Amino acid sequence: MNLINIALDGPAAAGKSTIAKLVAAKLAMIYVDTGAMYRAITYKYLQQNKPEDFDKLIASTTLSLTYDEDKGQRIILDDNDVTDFLRENDVTNHVSYVASKEPVRTFAVKKQQELANNKGIVMDGRDIGTVVLPNADLKVYMIASVEERAERRQKDNELRGIESNIEQLKAEIEARDHYDMNREISPLKKADDALTLDTTGKSIETVTNEILEMVNNIK
Ligand code: C5P
Repeated sequence: MNLINIALDGPAAAGKSTIAKLVAAKLAMIYVDTGAMYRAITYKYLQQNKPEDFDKLIASTTLSLTYDEDKGQRIILDDNDVTDFLRENDVTNHVSYVASKEPVRTFAVKKQQELANNKGIVMDGRDIGTVVLPNADLKVYMIASVEERAERRQKDNELRGIESNIEQLKAEIEARDHYDMNREISPLKKADDALTLDTTGKSIETVTNEILEMVNNIK
């Protein structure tokens, strides 16, 4: 098969990155986590005590992705590997705000489009099918009930030794989705030509196989 690009969008904690990684590994493609880019910029924004001049913040920012055999995608921000800080609560709770800013999006989208130039990419995010890769060969919009998404997030947290409250997780996920869906620039929405995949009640293996089947069905 010719090299393809796959766009995987959907609300928070829908399992996009888990599935995208597995699909990429099965098809010998490269996985790009675009949320991590917005998280890295948010990390810098917090480190700098929340400056409101986003043009200035971006003008002094360099961002690149590297791949580590064992650890997977690493995010290098201003020459430092910040990957391990990107899932912190403070970053998660500010990322939608930072990601709504025009200089931030212009910067990140350009990088994402450059990465996808040579094809062979599975990219997950919020605006991949609508804005970043409007010509992607396959677009999937992944959804799941908020209850299940909160439960999955809680299990992830448990594995990382972080205690969390299910009701609070639900509220945070819903708040982030609301912000992402209602922002002015590139809001989260299903591309007209995306296939919706509801993962509620499905195993990781089942969802991965459903996407592999979609790939097989590309004409
Ligand atoms: O996917 P993840 O939860 O890491 O994304 C974090 C946040 O980054 C999202 O809630 C959204 O605000 C922003 N984002 C975005 N566009 C993308 C990917 C992520 O606006 N393509």
